[in-house]
Amino acid sequence: MSAVTTITSEILALKRERKAVILAHHYQDSEIQELADYTGDSLELARKARDFDGGVIAFCGVWFMAETAKILNPTKTVVVPDAEAGCSLVDACTAEQTRAFKRRYPDHAVVSYINTSAEVKAESDIICTSRNAVKVVESFPASQPLLFLPDVNLGNWVQRQTGRQNMRIWQGACIVHATFPARRLVHLKHQHPDALVAAHPECPPEVLALADFIGSTSAIIEWAVNAPSEEIIVMTESGVRHSLERLAPGKRFVFVPNENCNCSECPYMKRNTLEKLRDCLDTLEPRVELPDELMRRAALPIERMLALK
Ligand code: 13P
Ligand code: SF4
Repeated sequence: MSAVTTITSEILALKRERKAVILAHHYQDSEIQELADYTGDSLELARKARDFDGGVIAFCGVWFMAETAKILNPTKTVVVPDAEAGCSLVDACTAEQTRAFKRRYPDHAVVSYINTSAEVKAESDIICTSRNAVKVVESFPASQPLLFLPDVNLGNWVQRQTGRQNMRIWQGACIVHATFPARRLVHLKHQHPDALVAAHPECPPEVLALADFIGSTSAIIEWAVNAPSEEIIVMTESGVRHSLERLAPGKRFVFVPNENCNCSECPYMKRNTLEKLRDCLDTLEPRVELPDELMRRAALPIERMLALK
């Protein structure tokens, strides 16, 4: 038996023993996505975590996603293969900075991207993901001033989509998407003149201006599979290639290296491995533990988002 086959059978055995579900974000390595019960974007995985009725949620994604799972289903044990699977956007905005903003602008409602810590969520009026950010912002009366945090590119894109002027936007960025250079996309468009372009809204405005479609990871996959082109240039993390090639085997998907790693990979997402997944199911560590009061406060803005139809 190969090493991967052995680890896979160990994971499946531990999963049964723990009555666990394996949730994987689209940016995980293919072998993790293959084993997962569900693969999805941050919104879909939050819903799956909320509705899970077993014992353990093994969250193959980044820490804020696992925290969201715990907040939505607090009686379950939530483990993550690697505790260092963070996110540059989470690091860009602290709870103390959010409280300082609220003291300075008490009339603003706080719309926080799901890529934030539990502490920042607890300071927020509502949460959004890249899939529903426009709808979440439009759920406020036009006269309500907003703070959108922490992603500057997503915030600016939502502002362009909604035409909303009374919106202050934090200046945080994703180290993967914000460093995709438009000039590399222009070059690829010349090399692939028939290709269409899909982009995640965390990309810079010059990249988004060249995109035929802008949306969350799952929305990009859904669109690309049905798009009227055999070639798609994909401006997001290369883990989505797994679902794209499974769902549209006849198409060609081109990924663009960014200026951070000269690759299209999220270094935080890629910290998770099959070995670490096995170990976290075995030891139930690293485990998400949050104070009850914090979870209660952070749950309110997440539930408000999930209640929006
Ligand atoms: P999605 O909500 O599209 O899954 O995006 C999460 C993320 O971290 C993108 O970089
Ligand atoms: Fe965070 Fe960017 Fe990685 Fe998504 S891709 S988890 S936003 S660092």
